Amino acid sequence: MPGTLTVVGAGLMGAGIAQVAAGAGWQVTMRDVTPDALVRGQAAVERSLSRFVRKGTLSSDERDATLARITTTTDLDAAAASDVVVEAVFESLAVKHAVFRDLDRICSPGALLATNTSAIPITKIAAVTERPESVVGTHFFSPVPMMMLCELVRGHKTGDETLQRARDFAEELGKTCIVVTRDVAGFVTTRLVSALVVEAIRLHESGVASAEDIDTACRLGFGHVMGPLATVDLTGVDVLRDATATIYAETGDPKFFPPEELARMVDAGDLGRKSGRGFYRYE
Ligand SMILES: NC(=O)c1ccc[n+]([C@@H]2O[C@H](COP(=O)([O-])OP(=O)(O)OC[C@H]3O[C@@H](n4cnc5c(N)ncnc54)[C@H](O)[C@@H]3O)[C@@H](O)[C@H]2O)c1
Repeated sequence: MPGTLTVVGAGLMGAGIAQVAAGAGWQVTMRDVTPDALVRGQAAVERSLSRFVRKGTLSSDERDATLARITTTTDLDAAAASDVVVEAVFESLAVKHAVFRDLDRICSPGALLATNTSAIPITKIAAVTERPESVVGTHFFSPVPMMMLCELVRGHKTGDETLQRARDFAEELGKTCIVVTRDVAGFVTTRLVSALVVEAIRLHESGVASAEDIDTACRLGFGHVMGPLATVDLTGVDVLRDATATIYAETGDPKFFPPEELARMVDAGDLGRKSGRGFYRYE
């Protein structure tokens, strides 16, 4: 049964989650810190829905009804009335802690509190709340309207009912879930993609092959839909840098040490598609 959802953070992931939830009949509030960020998030939803209309897989009435189910606000208090809250702010423990402290104060006792973190252990995020049993990882994939997977992550204190509610929510949004039962940094998917991406960047920065050829190797040699460096550009160079840094800090495993090239690209503002330049250039 569709309910009420607040998505905290209207960036790439927040807008995508808002879109699929509204498409499934949920009343959605998107919250970000600035009106500009909300305008960008809403525009991203409109663009994405209009693409489905052009492809003929969505009617314009359905697009309009979906958009009408999404409201935006800079006021986190709007989360007070929500059944489910999904946090999709920057991949920073400090920023997520600030959001979860506020959510703990604002949200109703029965609310499901989910985080879309790519790599930070759920237990760490939940620890700043008085209700860690209600906190769970719902790791959606980008682009959310296209990608079928939702990786559910159980923190040390996540309750059985919370995990089941998270599964019901993700399945209502049309996703297939996997469950990560031990709360390790990077879970299953970010561990796997980081191992590949870090090695691809090391090959690139040491001049072994071009970005195009590394990506072609993975697409044509291994049947990947997208090469690892194009994946970094899509995900966000900063997001991948933060995720690998989290896994390295937690495990000490040098395999995940963020390559210097990744750090310099972030310093230079080359964040991938969202900034127009990463391993490739975008119009
Ligand atoms: N990019 C991906 O492919 C991907 C995939 C899976 C998971 N994730 C995870 O999802 C989360 C969001 O990633 P993204 O790519 O959407 O990032 P993004 O940079 O596109 O968007 C983050 C948004 O959060 C907003 N924000 C920051 N602090 C806030 C606050 N206190 N309250 C409300 N909004 C706030 C920012 O203004 C920005 O609009 C991260 O934890 C990331 O690791 C990303």
